[in-house]
Amino acid sequence: MKLEGKISIITGGATGLGKAMALEFANAGADVVVCSRNKANIEKVHNEITALGRRSLAIVADVCVKEQVANMVKKVIDEFGRIDILVNNAGTSHSMPILDLTEDIWDLILDTNLKGVFLCTQAVADKPLDHEKMEEAKSCYYTLMGWDSKTGIPLKEKVEELLIP
Ligand SMILES: NC(=O)c1ccc[n+]([C@@H]2O[C@H](COP(=O)([O-])OP(=O)(O)OC[C@H]3O[C@@H](n4cnc5c(N)ncnc54)[C@H](OP(=O)(O)O)[C@@H]3O)[C@@H](O)[C@H]2O)c1
Repeated sequence: MKLEGKISIITGGATGLGKAMALEFANAGADVVVCSRNKANIEKVHNEITALGRRSLAIVADVCVKEQVANMVKKVIDEFGRIDILVNNAGTSHSMPILDLTEDIWDLILDTNLKGVFLCTQAVADKPLDHEKMEEAKSCYYTLMGWDSKTGIPLKEKVEELLIP
């Protein structure tokens, strides 16, 4: 995988799959922004990314909170000028019998796994990405939907074209 110079955000990039992706992206040449709610965890990953010679930001942000997501995107744009890749990795799961599942936990799961993806995708799609610039830069935009989620037209082939050099 070659991601030389790509500016990427990995939500929930402090632990587990997100951390693994963050380091793999950095190894592949990307600059990597990691966010989560735990400052200490994301700073550790940030340090590992910079030790690989890549630029990085560790941003405390709750993907369920619109203002925090907007602030994260602004910081990335201020620092790097654009965003090429968004990985909506932050998520939560609570395996338990349905009778133990409270409404609060249900809301947390949906807020994190659905609303968080919506907020991050919308925030990134709204400002920094310009279709023509995307084409010029051959940047890729990876999330649950392809770039053309902005137009509402699903173009799986476009995402594949951008992701596969
Ligand atoms: N591991 C699996 O087998 C598996 C299978 C299917 C799907 N998945 C999905 O893959 C993703 C990663 O899984 P994982 O096993 O690596 O999970 P994990 O270790 O629990 O990591 C989740 C990360 O998301 C962050 N996060 C959670 N809620 C957040 C929020 N509201 N705002 C910002 N960050 C938040 C967490 O950090 P903080 O809590 O510090 O914010 C944590 O760094 C999740 O979406 C998960 O549902 C995993």
